Amino acid sequence: MTNQAHIIDTIIKERRSIKKFKSDALSTDEIIELLEVAKWAPNHKLTEPWRFLLFAEEGKETFIQAYTKSQMGADQTVPEKAQKKAAYFRQIPIHLVVVMPEHPRQKTWDEDYGAVSAMIQNFQLAAWARGIGMIWRTNDWIYDPIFREAIGVKDGEKIIGTLMIGYADFIPEAKERTSIKEKLTIINE
Ligand SMILES: Cc1cc2nc3c(=O)[nH]c(=O)nc-3n(C[C@H](O)[C@H](O)[C@H](O)COP(=O)(O)O)c2cc1C
Repeated sequence: MTNQAHIIDTIIKERRSIKKFKSDALSTDEIIELLEVAKWAPNHKLTEPWRFLLFAEEGKETFIQAYTKSQMGADQTVPEKAQKKAAYFRQIPIHLVVVMPEHPRQKTWDEDYGAVSAMIQNFQLAAWARGIGMIWRTNDWIYDPIFREAIGVKDGEKIIGTLMIGYADFIPEAKERTSIKEKLTIINE
């Protein structure tokens, strides 16, 4: 195996989803640099079907307020569980929301979803190679019109995920993966 192959295999296998972050700041320039790498993902007809909302420093409050607003009960109070989650989100250096246009044609929609997912994985791997961790989240509230509107997602756009990003404070053990032989049918005659 070449050294290059070994490096990329290791990054792919050792990347983990990170939930505990150090308080060390991450600059928006660093995120932009990583996105400049990630954008080299395959995308059919080079439509580059992604858009990003980057919440950093004071701007994180817009993301957090959007979340708490979406969790409010009829009495306009934020449940304790959501308040705790908001406090946790506040400690995370960067929140990046990845958005895709919802194309009316199913084929294009599927291709776009595939392209954005490939781009996000590129982003995760490029970040991991630099010691930066994240978690890709698709919680119920990303579908909530209250949350969407409060962060500036337009009608006809789909949130593919919220990426919560920072330097890893704890790297969890890898969860086992099934042998590919159990998932593979070889047809060779
Ligand atoms: C499309 C997608 C959505 C995800 N949504 C969530 C989520 O909402 N909450 C969460 O804790 N992890 C989420 N994850 C992360 C997975 O749980 C994680 O990748 C999986 O447990 C394997 O762990 P690893 O990434 O460390 O290998 C998501 C991953 C993907 C690809």
